[in-house]
Order: sequence, then structure tokens, then C-alpha cells
Amino acid sequence: MTSANRPAQAAVTVRAPAKVNLQLAVGPPRADGYHPLVTVFHAVSLFDEVTVLPAEKTALSVSGEDAAAVPLDRSNLAWKAAAALARAAGLRGFRVQIRITKRIPVAAGLAGGSADAAATLLACNELWQTGLSQRDLIELAAGLGSDVPFGLLGGTAVGRGRGEQLTPALATGSYHWALAFGHRGLSTAQVYATCDRLRAARAAAGDRPGPGEPELSNPLMAALRSGDPAQVGPLLSNDLQPAALSLEPGLRRTLTAGRENGALGAIVSGSGPTCAFLASDAARARDLAVALTSAGVCRAVARASGPVPGATVVRDRQPSR
Ligand code: C5P
Repeated sequence: MTSANRPAQAAVTVRAPAKVNLQLAVGPPRADGYHPLVTVFHAVSLFDEVTVLPAEKTALSVSGEDAAAVPLDRSNLAWKAAAALARAAGLRGFRVQIRITKRIPVAAGLAGGSADAAATLLACNELWQTGLSQRDLIELAAGLGSDVPFGLLGGTAVGRGRGEQLTPALATGSYHWALAFGHRGLSTAQVYATCDRLRAARAAAGDRPGPGEPELSNPLMAALRSGDPAQVGPLLSNDLQPAALSLEPGLRRTLTAGRENGALGAIVSGSGPTCAFLASDAARARDLAVALTSAGVCRAVARASGPVPGATVVRDRQPSR
């Protein structure tokens, strides 16, 4: 295929997963404002779906969870992903219809926007038959956002740099989660800035030195190799958690409710406000979800398991005539 604008008939649907961070170690801000990270990403079975179709005019529509909070113009990361792919493939004047079905809440610390961008990259790559490899797509993804490459890769992986430099992790077993969604979203940039502020205040008070370079938790990696959630649970860690809790103090109650109801580990996911609770099996995750719902400590609860693959084509078809 040589042009994005040929009258192609195919519609391509891709689904991409949410992530939780099993470890999120954050260093001091770099000159470009980003923070060096060492993180352990883990993709879970909560998916957004993106369908792309040839169109007369590029347009984006969103349905499902939090749809009203998602921009429909070129500021949407999925639109940017389509534009970046068209540029990389040398397609001028691309036109595509992007339909997003959201199940991952917006601004929740679950990388939902990044999942949509990853899904759009893969879907348009199929639709336009650009021939770009997964490695090419991952490189493009890094230019779109820190979490987008992981949306393509999935599984369990160590992220370094801004989070975009990925190495698959040796992890066995499957992990069952209850996810407690917050009443309002948190801005990732604001959570990082709050983290810096809290650290500076603590250092000024002589409480603690500033953060050093982030390091991978070897005990967590060993626990992941064992495949035993009881070993993994207590080793979950997130340097952004104090910042998320200072912006959303009610999350303390959410975390406490999860711990009191048998979670093996309880943590704010990424920049929050979603709280992720690790359970020993699927039945315990269900019990935990019920307990969190009846405790009234969150807006909604979902169950999910991981690891799951990254963005995957689920339908690639000729629409009926
Ligand atoms: O890369 P992404 O656009 O997802 O990042 C959103 C915001 O999160 C950035 O503008 C930055 O404020 C913050 N961030 C950071 N360090 C990272 C990743 C994100 O400071 N490693």
C-alpha cells in the first residue's frame, strides 16, 4: 500500500490493556523536567478497544467509561498516534476514523490514554499496511508518551528512562487484582510535581536526604520469578503514593479497607487515584471487590488479572457490503 487514502475496505479493531506498576521508583527531575524511573509494569485484563476505518475526513469518537472526559480533536493521544505513524510511513494527508471504546477510567494511573495510543498505532499499521515492525512502533510510541511503548509490549516488564525503555521481566504465575477507581482523576504532571515538593520539604526539614538514582527491587523480581502472590504483595512499592495521598487524602481509607479485607498488597497505581489490591486467587479478588464496594471507599471496583499481552488485533475484516 502506498497511500493512506486509497479506498480500502478493512476495519481493524485492536484492544490494549491497562497497567499497574508493581514498583515505581522515581529519581530527582532531569533537566527536561521528566523524572528518571525504574518501574515494573504489569498489564492487566481491563481493556480499551480501538477500531480504525478509512474515512473521508479524520474523526475520532469515544464511547464507554468516562467518554465525556476524552478530547475528540487532534490533542487526543490516539489522533497523535495516527499522525505520527502516517509521518513515519511517509503517508501524506492521512484520513482515518478512530472509534474508541473505553473501559479504562481516564486520569486514573492505569495508562488508559497510552493504551488507546498503542492500540491506534497497531490498528493503523494494519489498516495502512505500512510494513513497520513492532520495534519501529515501539520507537514511535516512546515519542508519544512514557507509558505508550508498554501498551504495545504488555506482560510484565521493567521500564527505565522515562519509563519508555523496556525489558521483559522473568515473571511466572498469574496475579488477581481488585481495582478501586477514584471519584475524580489526578493529573500525572501534578502528582510528579507534588512528589518533588514533598521531597524538598522533607529534605529542608532535615528529615531525609533527597532521592538518589532509582533502583530495581531485586526482592520483587525474585518474588515475581517465584510466581507466588503472597511473596509479591508485601513488596509492591510506589514512590508517587505519598503525593497521590496528599492530593487525595481519602485514598488512605481505600487502602486500609483493602488491607483489612485480606489484600496481600495494597498500592496506588502509578500516579493514581486508582488503588490496586493483590489477592491470592480469583475468588479472593472477587471477595475483595465486594468488600470494597460495600465499604463505600471508592467510585467503582473492577476485577482484573495479569499479566496479559499488549495491544492485540481482535478483528480485521471487510465490512459487509
Ligand atoms: O510521558 P507522559 O506524557 O505520559 O507524561 C505526562 C507527565 O508526567 C509529564 O509531562 C511529566 O510531568 C510527568 N512525568 C515525569 N517523569 C516521567 C514520566 C512522566 O515527570 N518519567
